[in-house]
Amino acid sequence: MKICMIGTGYVGLVSGACFSELGNDVICSDIDSDKIEKLNNGKVPIYEPGLEEIVKRNFTQGKLKFSSDISLSIKKSDIIFICVGTPTNKKTNQANLKYVYSVAKRIKKNLNKYKVIVNKSTVPVTTGDKIEKILNTRKNKNKFDVISNPEFLREGEAIRDFLYPDRVVVGTNSNRPNKIMKNLYLPIIKKSNRYFNTSRRAAELIKYASNAFLATKISFINEIANLCEKINIDVKDISAGMGLDERIGGRFLRAGPGYGGSCFPKDTKALLSTARKFKTNLSIVKTVIKSNSDRNKLIINRINKIMKNKLKNKKISFLGVTFKAGTDDVRESPALTLIPSLVKRGANLHYYDPTGKKKEFKNKKIKFCSSTKEACINSDLIIIHTEWNEFKQLNFKKLVNKPNFKIFDLRNLYSFSKMKSNKLNYFRIGI
Ligand code: UGA
Repeated sequence: MKICMIGTGYVGLVSGACFSELGNDVICSDIDSDKIEKLNNGKVPIYEPGLEEIVKRNFTQGKLKFSSDISLSIKKSDIIFICVGTPTNKKTNQANLKYVYSVAKRIKKNLNKYKVIVNKSTVPVTTGDKIEKILNTRKNKNKFDVISNPEFLREGEAIRDFLYPDRVVVGTNSNRPNKIMKNLYLPIIKKSNRYFNTSRRAAELIKYASNAFLATKISFINEIANLCEKINIDVKDISAGMGLDERIGGRFLRAGPGYGGSCFPKDTKALLSTARKFKTNLSIVKTVIKSNSDRNKLIINRINKIMKNKLKNKKISFLGVTFKAGTDDVRESPALTLIPSLVKRGANLHYYDPTGKKKEFKNKKIKFCSSTKEACINSDLIIIHTEWNEFKQLNFKKLVNKPNFKIFDLRNLYSFSKMKSNKLNYFRIGI
């Protein structure tokens, strides 16, 4: 099939590359001509395990093309995926849809034959109706269907999530685009019953409800972890014991520094503003957002307690700044609030991230280090913020080379009892 992805960001590039891997002819297009030029020169602008190989292979075979001529890309394709950003409007907390609508206007001008217009951007319910309205001129009659096909890709696991999905959700009440989409996804759904066709509005809401539910699960276990810390119970046992119940499931029950990234914070807020618009009280989602934003304060209080309120001039080694492992993304990472808060309390902060991510904190007391070793030498406190594999088996005594240092593990990577029997001052979440 001839496909065009408009927007070559995370979703557009990963999905486009995977569709070409499945044998389709794909054009990834973007108004950012620099990005397109880089891609045409073999440079993949995002860090995602496995993506570069797929891009290179299919680009060389001519199945994957990159173009900044969006109009021509639309004309040449039968299925158009809208994959542009929907950032949160800081004043209203609503998803900003200007990029989605401007793509819709561009498609309107270039409908040279019947096309399926697939919205993959995360958009509030009824956005599909509005896209349809933009396209609906007398000239364009019967030349298109607007459908919703939300993405469920996790950063760092996106290729696997795309090729082995839990489900493919397609929102349309019309047979013609539904058949086309089923055919497109056939190679990855044929052995399972994972294709779910529903209405366009339902598909739009499934995306937000799923992210909000996962954010709720995380906040729930984080609050249970707070309780565990008071009564000497290990939250890992609680997650394991709960997760064995198939109705609950063990995934997304890892307590930690709070959820971050470009999706959960944005989508929970956008869902609330949709609810407000339709005069519905989503009190649980509201509480989850508050609980997650309060987490920073709780963690700082715990650090103060661990350090007996003596942070001034102490060397703190901060391991990992991205919002989770397997990505170079720092958006809404808890590190971005924790690091400045610690420095405000007088600490000297040395941080390291396996991606080499150097975030400009603009403070002389925050130093970027190029290895765990450099960050940890002579440390008073090591904070493990991200669950990168290379932080999972550290020889702390050798790394620090100084007595009485402390470790605060925000990802519960180490066995509490082993660390204690090794006589390390080890603290972690939920115990
Ligand atoms: C999330 C969803 O998992 C995807 O299904 C969805 O497609 C994507 O958002 C999106 O809307 O585009 P992502 O933001 O890449 O994916 O990352 P997750 O793996 O879901 O993690 C989100 C945050 O929750 C991270 O900060 C992570 O550290 C935290 N988390 C996750 C926990 O604290 N505990 C857990 O048990 C799981």
